[in-house]
Parts: sequence; structure tokens; C-alpha cells
Amino acid sequence: MHPHFKPGPLPLSMQLTPEGKLKHFLSTEGLPHLLLHDIMDRAEQFVTLPAKQQKKAPFLRGKTVMNLFFENSTRTRVTFEIAAQRLGADVTNLDIRTSSATKGETLLDTVRNLEAMNADMFVVRHEHAGTAQFIARYCAPHISVLNAGDGRHAHPTQAMLDMFTIRQKKGDFAPLKVAIVGDILHSRVARSQIHALTSLGTGEVRVIAPKTLVPAGLDKMGVNIFNNLDEGLKDLDVVIALRQQRERMDSALLPSEQEFFKLYGLTDKRLEATKPDAIVMHPGPINRGVEIDSRVADGSRSVIMEQVTNGIAVRMAVMSMIMGSMAGGAA
Ligand code: NCD
Repeated sequence: MHPHFKPGPLPLSMQLTPEGKLKHFLSTEGLPHLLLHDIMDRAEQFVTLPAKQQKKAPFLRGKTVMNLFFENSTRTRVTFEIAAQRLGADVTNLDIRTSSATKGETLLDTVRNLEAMNADMFVVRHEHAGTAQFIARYCAPHISVLNAGDGRHAHPTQAMLDMFTIRQKKGDFAPLKVAIVGDILHSRVARSQIHALTSLGTGEVRVIAPKTLVPAGLDKMGVNIFNNLDEGLKDLDVVIALRQQRERMDSALLPSEQEFFKLYGLTDKRLEATKPDAIVMHPGPINRGVEIDSRVADGSRSVIMEQVTNGIAVRMAVMSMIMGSMAGGAA
């Protein structure tokens, strides 16, 4: 990265204009609950609008969105692409494996070159925490940056599509008990979800994980920590399962998949401890038979595919709000 850049705390002024509108979307941390509801309200409009009519809402017409994915992705990249297209943008997917990034070009030089091709928005995924923030700090002022996942740090649009799905299914957040189960330590999704859930005033936020997969300082984020699955599942309204991020793990932390399933795998039987109408979520990719039994993933409680569909509307919402703020408009 840049020799002088230290990814530190993210001031709100980096994401918001002086009027409090979105300029970049880098993290859910510290964002006011009204803004989170604005994103969901707007996503609601896109969800209820048939795809054909969505194309008639060209908030991004004439704009160029560049997807910069330095890490693998299916759902996030494709739904960002569809969202940008439905808003009328030109979308380019930079294939990093065949780009000059592999020839030693610095990230900033790559960014400068893409700016010279008239980019308006960068959607960035990178294995290093702080990369989206770094690009937002140094790119041209008319460009907006959306964080599509940076290391273990944040994945704000995933968290917002999860919040949107919860609001669709359950309404108000205040009476809800929500738990995130699994590899919290390596999960940018968990961090962004916890910030969003607490900002939205969720009744109780729990994490359920083995001690080795709970990050230090998590207790200060306003969550209750459970190491026992059956205790943690009691009376839940929403259960969010996470994949073990094996690519980010030291081998010492790596429980065997069978052992993990035995202790923390979601099965119909164990879910009997939750409320009868509890929903099961997962950001994907799911590992069947590790954190979730196939019968649960494909069963009636699962809203996993709805999360994927909602990803398009939520990303449309965020992108259109950003473009509205950038143009100084009322969007
Ligand atoms: C997550 C990610 O990449 O952070 N997936 C996603 O964006 N849908 C979670 C994961 O990789 O396990």
C-alpha cells in the first residue's frame, strides 16, 4: 500500500458529506440508524419494482463503475454488477489476475490509470484490511469507493442486505434476539453485522463460537458471547451462520470439520431451541455439513437465497444514494 498510509479508525467524515449523505461506503461502524433505514427504505422500492422498470431508474446513466476484486467472489461481484447495470451504469470488471497488478504496479498507480479512464465508482475487495479506505483517501475527489470486503475488517453492503432481510421478515429490530454463529474471528461480515445490529437497536446480539474463534475485545462491542451452541440458540429470532475462513486461519486454530459440525453445526434438532419462527441466514459461500446441515440450508427456515436476491436491491440503493449525494441532488 502507500508508504505513509496507516489504516486507523475510520472517521465518519470519510464516508459522509458535511450534509450527512453517503459519499463512500466503507464500513457500517458509527453510521446513524436513520441512514441505515434510508438504505433499507430505498432497497424496498427497488425490490418491489419489476426488473424492467428498475432499468427506467437510471441514477447511474453515463457513469462508469469499476469492480476491482483482488479476492475471489461470486455473489458480491455479480450482484454489484447487476445492480450497477440496472441503474444504467457502464460496468467494468477488472480481472486482477491478468492485470498489471501482477507485474509490480502499485495499487495507487492502478487507481490513477483507472481514473484516467473516467471511473466514477470503484467497488473494491481486497485481502488487506483498510484497502478501500486507502483508495478512498487517495483517489480523485469525484470518485466514490464501495468496500466489498477488506480482510477481516468490514463488508458493509453484505451487512446491509442482511439487515434488510431481517427487517423484511421480522419488522422492528428492538424485540429481536439475533445470534451470529461460527468463525467470528476472521469474519468481516460479523463485524459489519454487529455494528449495524447495535446501531439499529436490536434487543440482543449474541455470538456463538469456540473461544479460539472469538476476537479479543468483542465483549466491548455490545454483544453477549456464548461458547455453547445449545445455550446460545435459546429463544432466538434470527440465526446467522458463518463459514470457517480457512484461508485466513493459522493451522493451530483449525478445528476439524467433523468436530466443528458436532459442536457448532446447525441442524433441525438443535434449532428446536430457537423460537419456532426463527429464520436461518448465511452470507455464503455455505459449507454443507460443516457449519450448516443441508436440511437446514434448504429447509423452510432458510432465507439464504432471499439474501442473495436482496443483495441486488441493497447495492442499487447504496449506489444510487451515493450518486445522488455526489451530484448534490436530493436522491
Ligand atoms: C463473505 C465474504 O467474502 O466476506 N461472503 C460474501 O461476501 N458473500 C463470507 C465468506 O467468505 O465466508
